[in-house]
Amino acid sequence: MGKILVTGGLGYIGSHTVVALHESGYQVLIVDDLSNSEREVLSGLRDIIGFSPNFIELDLRDKSAVAQLFSGHQFDGVIHFAASKAVGESVENPLLYYENNLNGLIYVLQNCVAHNVHNFIFSSSCTVYGEPDHLPIDESAPIKRALSPYGNTKQIAEEILHDVCQVSEISTVLLRYFNPIGAHDSALIGELPKGVPQNLVPFITQTAAGLRKELSVFGDDYPTPDGSCIRDYIHVMDLAEAHVVALDRLMDREQQEPVEVFNLGTGQGNSVLEVIQTFEQSTGVSLPYKIVGRRAGDVIAVYADTTKATEILGWSTKRDLASSLSSAWAWEKRIRGL
Ligand code: UD1
Repeated sequence: MGKILVTGGLGYIGSHTVVALHESGYQVLIVDDLSNSEREVLSGLRDIIGFSPNFIELDLRDKSAVAQLFSGHQFDGVIHFAASKAVGESVENPLLYYENNLNGLIYVLQNCVAHNVHNFIFSSSCTVYGEPDHLPIDESAPIKRALSPYGNTKQIAEEILHDVCQVSEISTVLLRYFNPIGAHDSALIGELPKGVPQNLVPFITQTAAGLRKELSVFGDDYPTPDGSCIRDYIHVMDLAEAHVVALDRLMDREQQEPVEVFNLGTGQGNSVLEVIQTFEQSTGVSLPYKIVGRRAGDVIAVYADTTKATEILGWSTKRDLASSLSSAWAWEKRIRGL
């Protein structure tokens, strides 16, 4: 089918996408610097797909190592996940984020040009929309000034890809993720945050597992029906499958423009309090939580208009919030031996 370079392939979304790629017959080479992932993810992947996927430990900021990688392999496409993603950390250390998220992209693209790799998929984020003017939000919505260096790296990366695709044979699909949650049904791979989780669902599952005393709900005085923020929580396997569909489109040369952009969400918004309630209902575990003040930089509400992905990619989500949360819980229980 084709040999695909998956950068950041041991990370949360990358590892689930490796499974989906394998199921569709793609051959995968994973590169990852293990800065926010674990080598053991390879064992989980092996147990799911039946063999250990090809893996090279590599930091994409190492320009000569990236050149060497492309000299040694002819890829049919690249899915570029590798990036740092902690919003708060990016505010404290912006240069780390600009260096890691942009240099890595630039070196990979330079080698795609040099080695005639024409199919490129980039992990973007709904964060590029900032606080949206209208909901649900579609791909034509304006890009707002980024609220964090992390968000800015996603905006700049999108611009870099537009510029490069104008003057090269590279075609790109920009996938703007909403909030990925959940884990593979086997519970052999899932989200593995380092330290205290910053994101809602891993904090919920760690609290339910007894690792954290209680969840803090960041604000209940927003102008939303129950006062808590609204997001579009998408099962990571639905997200992973969208990458395969986008890749198929690139490989089949069906792309209409050098850069195509798709929102990847469920199209449904859920509040933080709804997520807690759905977690409790679907798992039968009660979750201690308290309401605290708002978190700086949080947008009030964001959820996707997924019409474009449905009509053009023929993709839509198959899993609902309850099953996403149950899968996250099954994963947490497995890694904690519960
Ligand atoms: C944000 C970005 C997303 C980015 C991600 C990286 C937006 C809209 N989304 O996700 O693009 O990829 O960061 O990490 O900018 N919450 C709590 N208590 C907690 C944790 C979270 O109440 O302990 C609430 C937050 O206030 C928010 C919701 O849960 O309303 C989701 O938060 P989180 O999981 O951190 O994701 P985003 O901030 O939406």
